[in-house]
Amino acid sequence: MATTAKPLRIDIPVANDERKFPQGFFWGVATSSYQVEGAWNEDVKGLSIWDTYTHKPGNIKNNDNGDVANDHYHRYKEDVALMKNDLGANAYRFSIAWPRIFPNGTGEPNAKGLDFYNRLVDELKAAGIEPFATLYHWDLPQTLQDKGGWQNRDIAKAFADYSGYMAEKLGDRVKYFFTINEFRSFVEGGYQGLNVQVGGGKIVHLGGAPGLQLSNGELNQVRHNAVLGHGLAVQAIRSRGSADAKVGFAENMLIAVPVIETPEYVKAAEKATRELNADFITVLLEGRYTDAYLKKTGKDAPKFTDDDLKIIASPLDFVGINVYKPNIYVEPSNDAQGYRSVPINASHPKMQASWHVFDPECIYWAPHHVRSLWGAKSIFITENGCSASDVVSPDGRVYDSDRVMFLRAYLTQLQRATADGVPVKGYFLWSAQDNFEWSDGYSNRFGIVYIDFKTQKRIPKLSASFFRETVRRNAVA
Ligand code: NOJ
Repeated sequence: MATTAKPLRIDIPVANDERKFPQGFFWGVATSSYQVEGAWNEDVKGLSIWDTYTHKPGNIKNNDNGDVANDHYHRYKEDVALMKNDLGANAYRFSIAWPRIFPNGTGEPNAKGLDFYNRLVDELKAAGIEPFATLYHWDLPQTLQDKGGWQNRDIAKAFADYSGYMAEKLGDRVKYFFTINEFRSFVEGGYQGLNVQVGGGKIVHLGGAPGLQLSNGELNQVRHNAVLGHGLAVQAIRSRGSADAKVGFAENMLIAVPVIETPEYVKAAEKATRELNADFITVLLEGRYTDAYLKKTGKDAPKFTDDDLKIIASPLDFVGINVYKPNIYVEPSNDAQGYRSVPINASHPKMQASWHVFDPECIYWAPHHVRSLWGAKSIFITENGCSASDVVSPDGRVYDSDRVMFLRAYLTQLQRATADGVPVKGYFLWSAQDNFEWSDGYSNRFGIVYIDFKTQKRIPKLSASFFRETVRRNAVA
């Protein structure tokens, strides 16, 4: 019998164009003011609640604080050059420190504070990096905290005034504004304490400034005042910013992952996601608190008017979500709720941070749910990344192989979402650099650039090369 000669070499394609992202995709890195700037009392800056909180011994691991942090306030030029040359980023999400602009929260603006953001934005534009500005990443002016902070409804109005002012001053160059970063984290963390399920029934408790412990009723009112502040800020940005300003929020949406990918399970996960986020994303995008939320909170439900709801749901240009971990796994159920939450196993894989349950599928489902539940036409992943036990090797390099694994796995799932037609327009990696990780101080490194906090030396990690190559290909590298 004649045999056909077979080639001995099999061509296995190198992963390349097949995992492409849409054209014009934004590849960004992210930071926040308190976590990187330092210069805590320079150029007439007012105190923020994080200055007060970190200066009280015992609140932060090793009693670290953000007084100097990455000294980004003075080194922003070097940092922008790193973003351009070593990371290849085409977008940067930074936040503005409200107390730099209004040292007392309201009243006279501080020209020197504004000048810093003017210089930063100019530097970014000159480097071809699109600036995305977040207006509130938790550093509330202490003077406003002294008036009750987010417990006081008037803060919502003060936030809108500050937001409108920034949109007016930066609007000729900044086109993308995020109002508030992670409503849930700063509200629950700061005003009661945030409990995170991490598997095997274990709960990690996270706190933060101003370090209060309110009752459930009081906390629900803080939640409401925060979403109201967002709505008023959206309106202020629209009226005082440039006509082409685009605005949204950046929320760490709680994500329900379907255990099995069938239509029934996916429906159940959507129902769960809508209810889990009733207090933030759902009311922001629907302009109503769900019946189940009002029933569950009962006498502790927030006090609100119909007018509030209209303001809260002011139309947005995009939805921003910070995606790190799945919150629950879901299967369908026949009860009124329509879903059942499946416990997370004790042995479920995790990344280094105590709360960081690992599952790349969550970055597929999060934007998917946002589109199917609320019809979003434009979605940004405003944060994704992980901390790792990074050290400088004797050869001077930082080999964060686990972070590369994490990023590749998550980006593969994100690419899958875009290939399905989910309208994700950009991705911001948290973080551009190691920085002050809130209660964990400097002990948790999230950067793709290593910072030696003694010398302020910057060293791009292995993951920086991975990110750069991903951006270059516009595909998972
Ligand atoms: C979300 C927060 O927005 C950011 O400030 C924080 O550092 C990262 N998650 C990592 O925990």
